[in-house]
Amino acid sequence: MTQNIPTNARILIVDDEPANVRLIEKILQKNGFTNTKSTMDPLDVLPLVEVFQPDLILLDLHMPVKDGFMVMEELGELIEEQDFLPIVILTADVVQETKIRALAAGAKDFLTKPIDHAELLVRVQNLLQTRALHNEVLDHSHLLEERVDDRTRQLRQTQLEVVGRLGLACEFRDDDTGLHTKRVGILASKIAASLGCDNDFVTLMREAAPLHDIGKVGIPDIILLKPGKLSSAEWAIMKTHTTIGAQILDGSPHALLNIAEEIALTHHERHDGAGYHGMSGEEIPLSGRICAVADVFDALTHTRPYKEAWPVSDALQEITAQRGRQFDPDVVDAFLAVVESEYAEAEDESSETEEQEA
Ligand SMILES: [Fe+2]
Repeated sequence: MTQNIPTNARILIVDDEPANVRLIEKILQKNGFTNTKSTMDPLDVLPLVEVFQPDLILLDLHMPVKDGFMVMEELGELIEEQDFLPIVILTADVVQETKIRALAAGAKDFLTKPIDHAELLVRVQNLLQTRALHNEVLDHSHLLEERVDDRTRQLRQTQLEVVGRLGLACEFRDDDTGLHTKRVGILASKIAASLGCDNDFVTLMREAAPLHDIGKVGIPDIILLKPGKLSSAEWAIMKTHTTIGAQILDGSPHALLNIAEEIALTHHERHDGAGYHGMSGEEIPLSGRICAVADVFDALTHTRPYKEAWPVSDALQEITAQRGRQFDPDVVDAFLAVVESEYAEAEDESSETEEQEA
């Protein structure tokens, strides 16, 4: 019975009667409980509990200045809800009403004065054993929580990896580096952050924007990879990559794929309504408006089979010229702020390097 009871358990004794304190200490120490602390002043209890961190408190009910009820009330604010800190009430008052009041205030057991040695020991041992078991359960549930968190993290990683590879698969046909999709995701998330969007949305933009062209998987090579200009019939087919993409991503219960669907459908919409599906202004979801700018900037500044990369300054000029026409003006401003701060950072870094070299 006593094998699970830690004899190094910390026991706090609170009683304004020195004789009682001495007696309890003696009984406990005689039975191996040497880690005890005592006070005759109820005002000392709270600071003592904070420092000593007792496993059990023996508490007198009737004390001057602050009685046991007041002490328990204060302890209630200090002790975490999940902690099981047993309080044993020491009292000569065995009235039922007092007992109920003490139990409601947090007491776990009673010892009637004058104190019986055997009873004190059994009650202390029982409660310490309960506390030890409670802590074991708590540790176990923390361990389980950690495992669940770990598995959830792994699942999310797998989900992200699959989504990333999906983006790569569709990109592979016209950009075998697959870097365009990643860059668009990164830039789109930076624009979202610059617009003041919340962190969840910023993260979702980084993860979802790389899927903007996923619908290209349904466009025949002869059109997708055509080096020359597309005929109007071919162009009409090319435009369907937005609806094909939205169909592929449709109906998911996950926010990531919902935003990806929104982006796939609307990333070629224009602020002035002259885009693929004729949406305009705020009718176009913010995700689509952001991705439109990120996609065009990245496409302009990188080499494609059919064009050379534009200098960044020319691309910035083009995006600015399209502010309020092709692109949402607020999104363009946020984009320019991102570019400006990155340019300033790059300047700082290069001047630091120059200083170091000098
Ligand atoms: Fe596209």
